Amino acid sequence: MSEPILRAQIDAASAYESLFVPALFGQWAPKVADAAEIEPGQRVIDIACGTGILAREILTRIGPGGHVAGIDPNPGMIAVARRLAPGVEWREGVAESLPFPDESFDAAVSQFGLTFFKDRRRCIREMLRVLVRGGRLAVAVWDSLDSMPAYADEVALLDRTAGRLAADAVRAPFVLGNREDLATLFSEAGLAAVQITTHKGKAQFPSIRTMVEADLRGWLPVLGVILTEDQIGHILLEAEHALRAYAAAGGRVIFRLSAHIVTANRP
Ligand SMILES: C[S@@+](CC[C@H](N)C(=O)[O-])C[C@H]1O[C@@H](n2cnc3c(N)ncnc32)[C@H](O)[C@@H]1O
Repeated sequence: MSEPILRAQIDAASAYESLFVPALFGQWAPKVADAAEIEPGQRVIDIACGTGILAREILTRIGPGGHVAGIDPNPGMIAVARRLAPGVEWREGVAESLPFPDESFDAAVSQFGLTFFKDRRRCIREMLRVLVRGGRLAVAVWDSLDSMPAYADEVALLDRTAGRLAADAVRAPFVLGNREDLATLFSEAGLAAVQITTHKGKAQFPSIRTMVEADLRGWLPVLGVILTEDQIGHILLEAEHALRAYAAAGGRVIFRLSAHIVTANRP
């Protein structure tokens, strides 16, 4: 990979960590770690780790006798993750082919990555393969877009101002919101007895600008959609009007959202 491309990916990952993690993703790490019943001394893998918020949460729970590995295909994400937590084993790689032997981990966790996996059934089978028998799986996915009007309106804005690819990048995280479809997916991958619990959370962005910028600078580039500064400036201007209903006093954007956490033990 050329130096400028890597630089751009690190910039996007840094924007993801500073704009998105505190506003949206951070609050889910303790919930997923609870669902995975993480205990001191365990070996844990965080799949689609991004900048590593969940792996860092796990690290505090497993203590010095444990081990946590984080895997993500995006070199920018891994570079930022490594800088933030050198104590984790960070690996570039994909969920479809985990670079670990069978039965290497006591728990496999993943938050908000499953929607992006090209072959989801295969990824679930991979998670099971690297788990010991009885090992615990906990996977979080967003509820559907129609339960989160702020993001539905942002997608409509992007469709209008930036085109289909940009809008699809923001639509993509929400495609596994249907609980029955989710249960079917895990069952087809060989896990018939999963539990799915739906948890409430809250998005808290300092402003409409930050909410949309998080996507334009911290998410679209991760999926390969690069906008010009002119486009970004225009979209941010339009967003102030299109999303004004979500701004509270002081300009903060706070809205409820929900996610499903799928749990199971390897048979
Ligand atoms: C929305 S981010 C979630 C990151 C992190 N888990 C968090 O909570 O902040 C989705 C992540 O999935 C990763 N991803 C996409 N395709 C993947 C694949 N095939 N295997 C593993 N990770 C993948 C992306 O690079 C990105 O970092």
